[in-house]
Amino acid sequence: MKELKNRILITSALIYANGPVHIGHLVENTQADIYTRFLKLNGHNAFYCGAEDTHGAPIEIAAAKQGVTPEQFIDRWVKEHREDYRRYHIDYDCYYTTNSPENKAYTELIFKRLVDAGHIYTKEIELTYCEHCKRYLPDRYVKGTCPKCGAKDQYGDVCEHCNATYATTDLVEPYCSICGSTPIRKPSRHYFFRLNDFSDKLRAWLTGNKNLQPEIRNQILSWVDQGLQDWCISRDGPYFGFKIPGEEEKYFYVWLDAPIGYIASTANYCKGRGFTADDIWQTYDSTIIHVIGKDIIYFHLLFWPAVLMGSGFHVPDNVVVHGFLNVNGEKMSKSRGTFLTASEFADLLDPELLRYYYAANLSHTMTDIDLDLKTLQDKVNNELVSNIANLVYRTLSFLDKNFDSTVTTTLDGELLADVARKAEGVRDSYYELNFREAVAKTLEISTVGNKYFQDNKPWELVKTDKEKAQRVLTDCVNIVKTVAILMKPITPVFAERVEEQLGLPNLKWTDVDRVIENHHIAGAKIILRKIDPIVLKKPGEKQEEKREEKPAKPTGPASLDLRVAVVTEVKDHPQADKLYVLKIDLGSEQRQLCAGLKPYYHKEELLGKHLVVVTNLKPAKLRGELSQGMLLAADSGSVVGVLNVPDSPTGTQVTAEGISGKGAPQIEIGDIAALTLEAKAGKAYINGKLLGTENEIVRVDKNVEGRIR
Ligand code: MSP
Ligand code: ZN
Repeated sequence: MKELKNRILITSALIYANGPVHIGHLVENTQADIYTRFLKLNGHNAFYCGAEDTHGAPIEIAAAKQGVTPEQFIDRWVKEHREDYRRYHIDYDCYYTTNSPENKAYTELIFKRLVDAGHIYTKEIELTYCEHCKRYLPDRYVKGTCPKCGAKDQYGDVCEHCNATYATTDLVEPYCSICGSTPIRKPSRHYFFRLNDFSDKLRAWLTGNKNLQPEIRNQILSWVDQGLQDWCISRDGPYFGFKIPGEEEKYFYVWLDAPIGYIASTANYCKGRGFTADDIWQTYDSTIIHVIGKDIIYFHLLFWPAVLMGSGFHVPDNVVVHGFLNVNGEKMSKSRGTFLTASEFADLLDPELLRYYYAANLSHTMTDIDLDLKTLQDKVNNELVSNIANLVYRTLSFLDKNFDSTVTTTLDGELLADVARKAEGVRDSYYELNFREAVAKTLEISTVGNKYFQDNKPWELVKTDKEKAQRVLTDCVNIVKTVAILMKPITPVFAERVEEQLGLPNLKWTDVDRVIENHHIAGAKIILRKIDPIVLKKPGEKQEEKREEKPAKPTGPASLDLRVAVVTEVKDHPQADKLYVLKIDLGSEQRQLCAGLKPYYHKEELLGKHLVVVTNLKPAKLRGELSQGMLLAADSGSVVGVLNVPDSPTGTQVTAEGISGKGAPQIEIGDIAALTLEAKAGKAYINGKLLGTENEIVRVDKNVEGRIR
């Protein structure tokens, strides 16, 4: 892209605040960061804005499961993400959050403009609702049998077996993936954006915008030609997000306010800088460039531009789409040990070297990138170390040893002119976001430098013609300087070290044409050394792959959904001497439990008691009687005392020092056995954490000490 306006905004997609930054995400951050650094280096007023994508059902559910507020939950990820970006030299000019007042204000403004212009309507639709969880179930939270191919355990939006897409209400034998119960269909009124009304405008924008990658343009145009569906932009509570003005329990869908987060981040960046986000987003006096992955093009090249068009905002000038990262030729995978977080990888390798590898593989296309660890090692060793870093070190150390670190005048004007020409080619490649070509051309320059050094044999020349030898080295220093500039966007730390050694801090792109003569350099030190093969740890146990929208299986106390139940009826088990059959009231439902309490309690002692029950245990039949859950009791070997909470109402959540298993998926009895449950001094603990409700700590009847079962 060469037509750049006075102010250039670069963004990368907003990472969800519910999981770690992984090496796949870093492709995009590296791409956006390199481009911004390059533009700044060339004197452009460019700034890179990003944010956390904080809203949506998965975050609300995950927070509830951990017994924390969504704000507390996202906070933890924000901190970790920031630290990861810092380590990888991802230099955001503003890193913000979608859960901000600016984002709320812009979301409401855009919504209002869309409503006023007639681009929004409401309609009642049928959705999948879990009566037990008391929530409408988003795609990823309802599973069932694929209506097309009959594959079991498929998500509510797409079948991973036959790739069919459908609505959650189409699933056969659906079940709530939070609690396992069968959901119902329930109508709800929702807000729709008339996307289809924008078909012509979108087509014009797509064909008129010369910056877009042709393969992207064609893909999106074919979607437009197939006819666009209107877009549902609201969600029912419980939800973490912005409430729709005038509504009680309806929220803006996260994908409406997430891209508006780009505007909010810009607004935050502009504070105190003499211009506002509106100067960027409500005029065409600026250039807006989004960098995204190929999985979210529908959102960024259809919904988003249409929303901006409909509300009178600046439609992006470019949307740069990259492919996905594979590792060693295959999709990143937990079980193969190739699903690496940013921080895990930083423990294996200097982050800057990963930046180099990504740059060397990033062209302005949607092609996937393969992180082949052997190739990475070879590239770093043969290109970065043996070519570039070698030129730097041999030049500067030769000057140190022979010429008191001083350069005189240049010798080979033609050579340096050729280098300057080649550097211009590097600049063109950077402008075109073809970093792979920029790297290749930079390596060519460095090769020229090494060859020049080699051909002139300064180690011999210094004995016969010392002055000429010093001028040869002066030429080499000029090439080193240029290479340092060209590498600044990709390996900023390496480049800075070279600048220090050259005694030329803060080089700009214009310094490519600057001739360094009669200058004292600061001295040579080895900056980069060859790296050893990178060996990935094989994970001990095969873990399931984590998808951002898929809830992770909770462990520890969070795996038990413990609630207070009141005993309403006690009967003898018809088939078992030691068992009672209890009827319990959980507030939201009545259940039946079998419990081995007969030798230890009279029936009347149990009636009305407020017990602690594991509600998400897989129902089972005990000697013919259904048992839906398990009440907790301490067992010393001779006495048994039930866990109870007399002052907590029925249905109250029981937590382990705040860790809640609310809504945890169904577990088997073996999962409970894997936890340490014990009673001591009248108190109850799971994995060492004290049990309680918001009112009181859990009591152990008769102060029995021992295992809880
Ligand atoms: N939150 C949304 C984006 C909202 S933008 C208004 C989202 N988040 S994400 O965390 O799932 O992905 C963030 C970016 O990382 C996306 O552009 C996505 O394409 C990219 N990548 C995620 N995994 C990736 C790879 N394995 N490889 C390359 N990029 C990948 O989507
Ligand atoms: Zn449920």
